[in-house]
Amino acid sequence: MEETVFKKLITVSAGVVLASGLAACGSSSDSGSGGSGGSGDITMGFAQVGAESGWRTANTKSIQASAKDAGIKLKFSDAQQKQENQIKAIRSYIQQKVDVIAFSPVVETGWDTVLQEAKRAKIPVILTDRAVDSSDKSLYKTFLGSDFVLEGNKAGQWVVDNAATNDVNKDGKINVVEIQGTTGAAPAIDRKKGFEDKISADPKIKVVASQTGDFTRDGGKKVMEAFLKSQKDIDVVFAHNDDEGLGAIEAIEAAGLKPGTDIKIVTIDAVKDGMTALSEGKINYIVECNPLLGPQLMDLAKKVVAGEDVPARVETKEGEFDQEQAKAVLADRQY
Ligand code: AHR
Repeated sequence: MEETVFKKLITVSAGVVLASGLAACGSSSDSGSGGSGGSGDITMGFAQVGAESGWRTANTKSIQASAKDAGIKLKFSDAQQKQENQIKAIRSYIQQKVDVIAFSPVVETGWDTVLQEAKRAKIPVILTDRAVDSSDKSLYKTFLGSDFVLEGNKAGQWVVDNAATNDVNKDGKINVVEIQGTTGAAPAIDRKKGFEDKISADPKIKVVASQTGDFTRDGGKKVMEAFLKSQKDIDVVFAHNDDEGLGAIEAIEAAGLKPGTDIKIVTIDAVKDGMTALSEGKINYIVECNPLLGPQLMDLAKKVVAGEDVPARVETKEGEFDQEQAKAVLADRQY
């Protein structure tokens, strides 16, 4: 057998093995191009975090729809919130010689080796939504997503600005319980920091308990149940995303208390379920985190594949909502 043909066969079968391995520890799918964007033959491998939240579901839909619209062939995998699954997916995309890899890292650390493999294979990488803590910035072309520290700042500032009403028990102390996102994930690290930076301005405000709810509704509920048992005076819940806040609402109601009144709640995301709870008075304030990254991602991918320069960081613009604002925009909310 001719050497080049033999090599090709090895590559193809390695790709098949990796693809079936991926199916066993996560899930993957291919969707053909078919849009009107006319991007030639660009194939993108996208390694998604999972399906842990309403935000993530909206993000996945945005990426899949935008790839189709842009005429980019998408190979998509769901890592089920496990870094090892994402690394396997990225290696599989390298084997398959995709044109560009995009991923939203489950956690911040531990990516250098696989990113070096992509670089050696000359496959450009785009980080979307979450960043990595690698000091070698040449390992990826750009980052597209939110300023998570700013999101934490906004949540903390709301607690400070509304100190009078947030002191539910009127004892001169504002006790906050924090439901963190996935341990080690950029949004969990940055939102915590951003929040603490703001509340440190007011000595009355203290985070009295802090645990991870893994960005899930079930996680938020379980953590809140534990907080309600261990803390006798909770004024405010700061949940790192809406799903955790919605889980906390279930726990608060099950304990016979009124969420939004007996305990104030501030969350991040502004997905439809969160905004509904906000408009019903069960959440008090939501900081927006925009999941609709697909169109910008496809534009960046086309540029990167064409060898064009792209900015090192592309940030999404985001707002914030109180209860009245939520009522006004709820009907038109896209996600
Ligand atoms: O990385 C973005 C965060 O991840 C969103 O706030 C959260 O809902 C998701 O799971």
